[in-house]
Amino acid sequence: MNKIHSNGIVILDFGSQYTQLIARRVREQNVFSEILPPETSLETIISRNPAGLILSGGPSSIFGDEAPEFDESILNAEIPILGICYGLQLLAHHHGGSVESTGQGEYGFATISVDDDTKLFSKIPKESQVWMSHMDRVSRIPDGWNVLAHSSNGIVAAMANHDQTRVATQFHPEVAHTKEGQSILRNFLFNIATCAPTWTAGNFIDEQVDLIRKQVGDGKVLCGVSGGVDSTVVAALLHKAIGSQSTAVLIDHGLLRKNEARDCVRALKSGLGVNINMFDESDIFLSKLKGVTDPEKKRKIIGNQFIYSFDRISAELGEMKFLAQGTLYPDVVESGVSKGKTAHMIKSHHNVGGLPDDMTFELVEPLRELFKDEVRNVGRALGLPESLIERHPFPGPGLAVRIMGDITKERIQILQEADQVYMDILHEDGLYNEIWQAFAVLIPVKTVGVMGDQRTYESLLGIRAVTSTDGMTADWYRMPADTLSKISNRIVNSVRGINRVVYDITSKPPGTIEWE
Ligand code: XMP
Repeated sequence: MNKIHSNGIVILDFGSQYTQLIARRVREQNVFSEILPPETSLETIISRNPAGLILSGGPSSIFGDEAPEFDESILNAEIPILGICYGLQLLAHHHGGSVESTGQGEYGFATISVDDDTKLFSKIPKESQVWMSHMDRVSRIPDGWNVLAHSSNGIVAAMANHDQTRVATQFHPEVAHTKEGQSILRNFLFNIATCAPTWTAGNFIDEQVDLIRKQVGDGKVLCGVSGGVDSTVVAALLHKAIGSQSTAVLIDHGLLRKNEARDCVRALKSGLGVNINMFDESDIFLSKLKGVTDPEKKRKIIGNQFIYSFDRISAELGEMKFLAQGTLYPDVVESGVSKGKTAHMIKSHHNVGGLPDDMTFELVEPLRELFKDEVRNVGRALGLPESLIERHPFPGPGLAVRIMGDITKERIQILQEADQVYMDILHEDGLYNEIWQAFAVLIPVKTVGVMGDQRTYESLLGIRAVTSTDGMTADWYRMPADTLSKISNRIVNSVRGINRVVYDITSKPPGTIEWE
């Protein structure tokens, strides 16, 4: 463990839907945090040299057969512990208090009153709003412990042992609805756990530069760039670490947004001096997609062709021992109980850019420890332009799954133009960063319109904008009516081939974000 990792926080994941959020909130305080499965041994935890331990919430009841196993010696270790929700009940139960199932939980907003404003609740207002989500509750706290706060219906909202080396909240401080949540977490990190705020983008870059150099020696690294923020940051980081030993490659399948490939290459090449090559493979991709309308077939064809192209190009570039990938922490995290089937299912269609099975590269994955917002901070610190850093996620098969029906050069161009107008307006109206993902969809339906004295009979365009945190669930964005009107007017007036615009107001579930 080195400088930026030690004195961080280990989070034991008992299966809460909020575990990754806890990790992010801790890191927002520049403190490293790592998620480990609940059964992790005390020895392993100590080897990470954490300044504190957080026991997450979870769906189980501590009485239930399905309650996750954990190493009870942790509870007596000399590491400060914060228990959250299930974590609070676990601490209460194992220290001799009582937890009861009343069959009546608390869900949603609650108000708490602080009874003890030292340490955990230091400088926290006497009353504040919190977010609760629990079935069981503590009916008697362990001997020698104190109630730090209670909720308006008398339930223990927070408790601690006498010196507050064991503290626990029934509510979720990590959730934005808990008004003072971030201050309460900060109090745990710095008043109780003496964490070190060394987890910064600058320190991360210094460390990775060192690690990359050590890993690759004088070997050569191939870096696939897609135009998205993750792979672009990897390319920039590799450039900083090993300069021309790294070759970045952008395969343009002809289904990117207008100018996207060019802008990305420009930012890396002219902006940072990265050794990047763009390969225009659009003719091959489009010929293979000719006449294909089934979404899954489109995905397969693009995924396979991507591998062929990548294979050929990497052979042309000569001996490359390493392949760099933009894998992020949420893909890596080994959470003992929370990794649900949905996560696996959703990932299975994210096929483009996946590694061919028979390739013999050694992987370089410098972003493995980062959440998306941290990747963005690293990108900023490396000097990448904001337009690239804040870019919405974009699917591997690109516009192929946004052109319903036949994919032709002409239809790609219509969609690119319309999509560009849409994005421009979101930027003009200052809405782009409020939205998680926005895009236009070309629908294979023609409708009648009138322009001037002319009757038109042109294509219908769908526009979509959603808010989300991870793409697993999403809500349609409440776009201001003035913006909608501007988008529709400008697209119909300036993009030939479109005479009508509709806005998609479907959430996920039951819809998906993409239309195909
Ligand atoms: P859905 O449509 O499944 O999308 O709600 C969730 C998120 O995944 C992206 N997506 C893809 N990304 N290859 C990708 O790399 C794909 O085939 C693919 N399909 C959907 C989608 O853009 C959204 O961000």
